Amino acid sequence: MIELQNVSRRYGSVQALKNVSLKVEKGSVLGLLGQNGAGKTTLLNILTGYLAPTEGRAMIGGFDALMEPAQARRHLGYLPEQPPLYDEMTVREYLRFAAELRGVEKHAIPAHVEEVMELTGLAEMRSRMIGHLSKGYRQRAGMAQALCGDPEVLVLDEPTVGLDPKQITEIRALIRKLSYGRTIVFSSHILSEVQQLCSHVVILDRGEVKLDAPMANVHDPDEVTLLCTLGAPESRILRHLRELEGVKHVSVQPAAQADQTTALLAFRKQQEPERRLFALASSMNIPILHLSRSEDSLEQIFLKVIAN
Ligand SMILES: Nc1ncnc2c1ncn2[C@@H]1O[C@H](COP(=O)(O)OP(=O)(O)O)[C@@H](O)[C@H]1O
Ligand SMILES: [Mg+2]
Repeated sequence: MIELQNVSRRYGSVQALKNVSLKVEKGSVLGLLGQNGAGKTTLLNILTGYLAPTEGRAMIGGFDALMEPAQARRHLGYLPEQPPLYDEMTVREYLRFAAELRGVEKHAIPAHVEEVMELTGLAEMRSRMIGHLSKGYRQRAGMAQALCGDPEVLVLDEPTVGLDPKQITEIRALIRKLSYGRTIVFSSHILSEVQQLCSHVVILDRGEVKLDAPMANVHDPDEVTLLCTLGAPESRILRHLRELEGVKHVSVQPAAQADQTTALLAFRKQQEPERRLFALASSMNIPILHLSRSEDSLEQIFLKVIAN
């Protein structure tokens, strides 16, 4: 359905994307997860044909996003980082304009716009000027313009950024509703959001894809992860952590103080990981300052991949 083939992008000396390839299957909800500056917006702008890659290409429904933008975009709605809103228009005027741009037939526009406003919870705001909408409703208006023409594919760049908790919940519910029967790609820097909404996750870090997996695979049922902080420097403890029985890998996280070590320890299941860590710490006379069993496996993976 959507594909990036070996896409790289530079801005002058900044390499924003490095050889990114990915496929989005029809009907899936792909969460593009990454910290600020990871390259999410660049990737989505290339995917939607709004930005040229330095190398590689983006294909949507078999059309090259850059060479055949009209065909490629016919099936695609995009909520960019800065949605193109016109403050001087009412919600209804704006959406009718957007529907016209998206090629909805003239006679069908009023009913179509009513439907889109209904779906996005904007119906009561139809006569309100865009410039007078709250941030949450502005975001809905951005979502609504992306939905004009009823595209099969929706691409949303950080749809919940800058919203308050209630608005975030509402936008997430809307994304969930929209995901039935559509293919959605959205970016986020919030792990739990991706976990809640997505069938696939791609982790982007400094312009590179570090993980690309169905959400089901992300929950590794054979692994248990401990997050711990020990009162000893890495140089003293790390080797011993790696040698603990049952440990699959250890990734050291930024620690608050130089004489402390924070690490994620992935154990094979049924290895009584806490008991082994306690035994090690007590034999070395090192205090355990924090210990938690992390069930949040996407978080573990996220921390692991961006730590390298
Ligand atoms: N127009 C631009 N000119 C120069 N550098 C840019 C431009 N747009 C983005 N960048 C840089 O490219 C990197 C990726 O940015 P971006 O794609 O916006 O990431 P994200 O959306 O994940 O925050 C960052 O280092 C950013 O500073
Ligand atoms: Mg961005």
